[in-house]
Amino acid sequence: MLIVGASRGIGLGLVDVHLEAGWKVHATVRDGSAPGNHPDLTTHQLDVRERDQLETLISDLHEPVDRIIHNAGIKRAARSDLIEVNAIAPIRVVEALLEAGRLKQDGTVAIMTSQMGSRGGRSSSLGDYGDSKAALNDEFRKRSSRWHDAGAIAIVMHPGWVKTDMGGQGASLTISESVDGIIEVLDGLTSDDHGKFLTWDGRVQPW
Ligand SMILES: NC(=O)c1ccc[n+]([C@@H]2O[C@H](COP(=O)([O-])OP(=O)(O)OC[C@H]3O[C@@H](n4cnc5c(N)ncnc54)[C@H](OP(=O)(O)O)[C@@H]3O)[C@@H](O)[C@H]2O)c1
Repeated sequence: MLIVGASRGIGLGLVDVHLEAGWKVHATVRDGSAPGNHPDLTTHQLDVRERDQLETLISDLHEPVDRIIHNAGIKRAARSDLIEVNAIAPIRVVEALLEAGRLKQDGTVAIMTSQMGSRGGRSSSLGDYGDSKAALNDEFRKRSSRWHDAGAIAIVMHPGWVKTDMGGQGASLTISESVDGIIEVLDGLTSDDHGKFLTWDGRVQPW
């Protein structure tokens, strides 16, 4: 499996729990330093904005994985950076991996979005961060049937409000609670779930 954005927070939690469960994990970090020391962990350098690093990752992966989690994201940044990192890059990264055949047939893809990107029928701005996640959700929905044709079972996921650098210590969930929920949802995905917006505890989130 591959986790994009694994240096800290939810991404690091996902690495640890998948390793404990016996997965072989490819993890990406921006500075290239390993997010842990485990024989089943391979670290790759990737800033999701950098196309040449994405090409290197694809070539270094060699073979398809059965799960891709695009976790990298930012919150406190200029609007243009939020759009680039939260909306454009996840789609580009996942699409490049699919086109290069780096996901097994019926493998799963989860992109971390946020319920703050849930419009619920509103046309007004959701704030810069919310707008960037709404744009991600829109692009995901546009590509959803093509990704399914490429053999993926893909969803976007709200991880809950989680105690990380981004979520803050006042958040309602620990990293471990969120990660355990996310993994239970991913373990249970079937083809019928493709294209959904799901929460860490398996509920369907309105677009
Ligand atoms: N925490 C919450 O309550 C919450 C709620 C809803 C959605 N989410 C979403 O869940 C995901 C993880 O959130 P988190 O709370 O774990 O955030 P976090 O603690 O701030 O960690 C963010 C992760 O994204 C990586 N990242 C940021 N920009 C990147 C880039 N350009 N290229 C590659 N990696 C990059 C960071 O790497 P560096 O260490 O190199 O910066 C870090 O590993 C995000 O997509 C976030 O929007 C979080």
